[in-house]
Amino acid sequence: MQRIIDELERKRAAAEEGGGRARIEAQHGRGKLTARERIEVLLDPDSFEEWGVFVEHRCSDFSMNDKTIPGDGVVTGFGHINGRLVFVFSQDFTVFGGSLSETHAEKICRVMDHAMKVGAPVIGLNDSGGARIQEGIASLAGYAEVFQRNVLASGVVPQISMIMGPCAGGAVYSPAITDFIFMVRDSSYMFVTGPDVVKTVTHETVTHEELGGAVVHTSRSGVADRAFDNDVDALIMLRRFVDYLPLSNRGKPPMRVVTDPVDRAEHGLDSLVPDNPNKAYDMHEVIGKVVDDADFFELKPDYAANIITGFARMAGSTIGIVANQPMVLAGCLDIQSSVKAARFVRFCDAFNIPVVTFVDVPGFLPGTAQEHGGIIRHGAKLLYAYAECTVPKVTVITRKAYGGAYDVMASKHLRGDVNFAWPTAEIAVMGPKGAVEIIFRQDLGDQEKLAERTEEYRQKFANPFVAGHRGFIDDVILPHDTRPRVCRSLEMLKNKELTNPWRKHGNLPL
Ligand code: HXC
Repeated sequence: MQRIIDELERKRAAAEEGGGRARIEAQHGRGKLTARERIEVLLDPDSFEEWGVFVEHRCSDFSMNDKTIPGDGVVTGFGHINGRLVFVFSQDFTVFGGSLSETHAEKICRVMDHAMKVGAPVIGLNDSGGARIQEGIASLAGYAEVFQRNVLASGVVPQISMIMGPCAGGAVYSPAITDFIFMVRDSSYMFVTGPDVVKTVTHETVTHEELGGAVVHTSRSGVADRAFDNDVDALIMLRRFVDYLPLSNRGKPPMRVVTDPVDRAEHGLDSLVPDNPNKAYDMHEVIGKVVDDADFFELKPDYAANIITGFARMAGSTIGIVANQPMVLAGCLDIQSSVKAARFVRFCDAFNIPVVTFVDVPGFLPGTAQEHGGIIRHGAKLLYAYAECTVPKVTVITRKAYGGAYDVMASKHLRGDVNFAWPTAEIAVMGPKGAVEIIFRQDLGDQEKLAERTEEYRQKFANPFVAGHRGFIDDVILPHDTRPRVCRSLEMLKNKELTNPWRKHGNLPL
């Protein structure tokens, strides 16, 4: 008995040591925490239950049988974040560079399988050199097992990837299938083929950071949702983020005790929209003033900033916010913003999170770049996402809602449950100037007549009442009443039930 207990302690100590003191120090030297330290910051104190601590790889090639480390480069198990269950895997870069072996993959699959059975999120802390090169195909098979589970878990339990070191080769495709990707600035990167391969194939010289660092993925590629300054910041923000999410598609979003009065009037909103329709204002101000405690967790803030997406709470319950941003590209919908918002709406829909949409959109962005880039197909993604969505949908038109973009942005016709407009709303097929230049083309030479016609069009259509007469909006509300009115609508919709016709799956215009 004592012999086994001693052996147990020896193995546990070896697992704790990972790749050894020198590699742990090198990890710290790069400003990174170890896999276990990360779990300690992420989870509630003493809540972590580790699984698979004695797992070792089975590879004997390249003298690998002399090199075994209990745990095999990934720490797995479950624990709590603010008392709520989550499953975690945390790759240990000090053990074979966190590379994924067959057994390493089995450990990840085990937590994923349990997360699916009990209905709880899976959080991956990624820090890995990719497939364990010594294992070859066994390691590729391991990745594919993980990918398959990622796909089956999609829309069933939230999956979150935190990239905290290298993430190269096929390794990027597991995070890519998860719902959210966060990165750590200056210490993490993601790419399918690294700088050396790029140089060989395309003759481009590029650094890891330039190819796939946090700045690239949060502002250019849109692969990552947010980046944080260091490991501790990232993990603390991840705790905050998980608080918004339901545990699975079977649950409701978590409730929080509200101190912010639901009937709070915000008179600052009454003068926010400028008289000049061509002047911008910051839609973040609307969001900040309407949601509980101005607390908004924005996603992809530096990518396609002409649309804002993120989570907030109203009356204590999580909502997803989608909002056009007049400060960027006048709030137009383009390829990137359509795809960004479509994916967000689909996440909310899959996980029973109501969607509140703030609309100020002059239309789809014109131009050859957009048309040739496929705005028809990409814009249709957002249309599809809103139309398919069955969770409560509350829409507030603050100013422009023109043309196809009016239809797309959670209009009544796409089963918007409650559609409000501010008195400044202009709901029309297009802006007065553009409209007059088309329908009164014969008067184009006569500036006076054109101005008269434009004013006539403005009077007739640039207001919320034409849509109101037809019942396309439910009420014109004063901006300062937005919070109470939206809260009341969401409360009314709490038990909404709506199902789409049975089908294997739809065919989203990918
Ligand atoms: C086995 C690996 C490894 C790997 C790193 N190591 N990557 N061992 N398999 N994939 C080991 C190193 O040998 C080293 O061991 C230790 O981890 C730390 O690595 P370093 O190179 O010293 O660290 P660093 O300089 O920080 O560089 C990190 C790195 C680099 C950029 C990740 O190691 C690297 O380029 N690794 C290979 C990346 C790669 O090509 N992976 C395979 C991709 S193919 P010692 O003992 O010296 O400390 C792939 C296919 C999947 O993933 C397809 C799925 C569909």
